Amino acid sequence: MSHHKVELKEVSFSYADGHQALDNVSFLLGHGESVGIVGANGAGKSTLLSVLTGIQFPQKGTVRVGDLPVNKKTLPEVRRSVGLVFQEPDDQLFMTSVYDDVAFGPRNYRLDEEEVDRRVMEALEEVGITHLKDRPPYKLSGGEKRLAAIAAVISMKPDILIMDEPTASLDPRARRKIMNILKGFSHTKIITSHDLDMIMDMCTRTIVLKQGKIAADGNTGEILSNEKLMEECGLEIPLALQNCPVCRSSKAI
Ligand SMILES: Nc1ncnc2c1ncn2[C@@H]1O[C@H](COP(=O)(O)OP(=O)(O)OP(=O)(O)O)[C@@H](O)[C@H]1O
Ligand SMILES: [Mg+2]
Repeated sequence: MSHHKVELKEVSFSYADGHQALDNVSFLLGHGESVGIVGANGAGKSTLLSVLTGIQFPQKGTVRVGDLPVNKKTLPEVRRSVGLVFQEPDDQLFMTSVYDDVAFGPRNYRLDEEEVDRRVMEALEEVGITHLKDRPPYKLSGGEKRLAAIAAVISMKPDILIMDEPTASLDPRARRKIMNILKGFSHTKIITSHDLDMIMDMCTRTIVLKQGKIAADGNTGEILSNEKLMEECGLEIPLALQNCPVCRSSKAI
């Protein structure tokens, strides 16, 4: 895929029970952009990612990834270029060992076992869970499962990396490790999170969702420091921008 662009044009999506989760959402992400998607619980972030990756198709509007419109026909090709880490690791891990889960994608690409093993061990090392490779995923802790799910996507070497709440339930060291992996990923990346300090650190652009609509789209520093906007959207400005309780001065961006 030549350009790792992502485009949504006037996308609306309702679930089968009639609940509208996305309402006329449009944006264009250019090659190499790092974009944070933020919003209160239920704002539509995970739904947006599922529409972007063709897990669900919108009733209205169009989605394009790279040069392709996302539809049933193009799905195999779209999935080759986009790596999605689900919000719930249990939705992603289904093999009997962490190793096999991380090997699943590369094996699907029909790589030879030597290359599969190289990719698996590299991905496990990158996220720091080589010691878990023979464990059954369902017996891992929440944070360990998340790291395994991230490794399972990294091993596929996607062109576009999409992560739904990647730092949730991670300890500080694992959180830092994941942030470093994201920083090292030079292609397009899209990250949803309630960890706004992480978004501030990782993403140059931020899109704010409110009840399925885009409430703001622009420079991360400007958006996340806008107290009024954050409050209107059910959010708070990142801890790093909040006033210091001791000296009362605001910390630098
Ligand atoms: N399967 C479903 N059927 C009906 N409504 C759903 C379904 N899944 C999600 N919703 C609703 O769609 C809206 C958006 O949900 P979504 O999971 O996209 O929110 P989110 O921004 O990812 O929230 P969170 O921060 O809690 O992860 C919510 O109001 C939710 O209740
Ligand atoms: Mg979500």
